[in-house]
Amino acid sequence: MNLKIGVIKGDGIGPEIVTEAMKVLDKTAAVYGHTIQYEQLLLGGASIDVHGVPLTEDTIARAKACDAVLMGSIGGDAKTSPWYKLEPDKRPEAGLLKIRKALNLFANLRPAVLYEELKGACPLKEEITEGGFDMMIMRELTGGLYFGERKTVEEGGVRTAYDSLTYNENEIRRIAKRAFDIAMKRRRKVTSVDKANVLDSSRLWRSVVEEVAKDYPDVTVENMLVDNCAMQLVKDPKQFDVILTENMFGDILSDEASMVTGSIGMLASASLNETKFGLYEPSGGSAPDIAGKGIANPIATILSAAMMLRFSFDLDAEADAIEKAVADVLKEGWRTIDIMSAGKKQVGTSEMGDLISARI
Ligand code: IPM
Ligand code: MG
Repeated sequence: MNLKIGVIKGDGIGPEIVTEAMKVLDKTAAVYGHTIQYEQLLLGGASIDVHGVPLTEDTIARAKACDAVLMGSIGGDAKTSPWYKLEPDKRPEAGLLKIRKALNLFANLRPAVLYEELKGACPLKEEITEGGFDMMIMRELTGGLYFGERKTVEEGGVRTAYDSLTYNENEIRRIAKRAFDIAMKRRRKVTSVDKANVLDSSRLWRSVVEEVAKDYPDVTVENMLVDNCAMQLVKDPKQFDVILTENMFGDILSDEASMVTGSIGMLASASLNETKFGLYEPSGGSAPDIAGKGIANPIATILSAAMMLRFSFDLDAEADAIEKAVADVLKEGWRTIDIMSAGKKQVGTSEMGDLISARI
């Protein structure tokens, strides 16, 4: 199979971690007899430096011509980077929002898994995490507050800012269906998270989710208020299988869930549209403080590449091989600094990539 993969190395640690994921992809392709054609794409700060804007129309067109896109991370230090002297709609993050919208990537999958090997890094008490946990956060990615009308105006001499939160039933239905489909392949439970005691958009969310649920009699569905969900994630994370929620709540809860695992450097993510196309990226950010030092953990990006092979190319055996190689390397005691613990063997970014490639 010939895979045409768009690559957004991005900013901060992005180039380092994506390089390792490409190393692993190349090895996988060689072993399983595939060819890969990479298309380098600029997004975020890297695009601002070259084009003056965080995403160009040409990049969107070239991304659309790929089968899938693998991304590192974008953005810099908001205090020191010149990118943040620009207007908000010219900053790195604006490019990310624009590409999500342009490619219609409405379904964002963010797994939060407690790795047996890395249990020690989990900040929760052992009695809470006993037996591990494994949840999938399904975040709506192209609607809500992120894409509503916004403005800052002066009203009677008072500076006033508006952000609007809008959802229509179709936007809710398509992400809800995706969440139920995924739950059917997991433990068949969907927790839909909203703020229906306050927000109209949440009340609509809840009623559409309940309609969709009727088509999935085998899935247990539960509604939970977002503030309660934030508590439950630390109190009893085992209760969750699929968490379905809107854009802003999903942004916040997915960071919380990944922190609870103690190993954000391990978590992959996928953003999907209605087709097989997807954009795959690590859950963590661009970590400008450690960029260029060769110490960032490439595993989340490598696992994102595995997710890409599975979801966009249906190459399950290849994806399994990558995931197994990661598990083997961890079992053998190899660690990057973020997941290092006593008695283990510390390695840098590129050595970690080499170790994983060698086991494919
Ligand atoms: C994320 C990030 C982005 C978001 C930022 C960088 C705009 O936090 O992917 O979770 O809020 O969606
Ligand atoms: Mg976020």
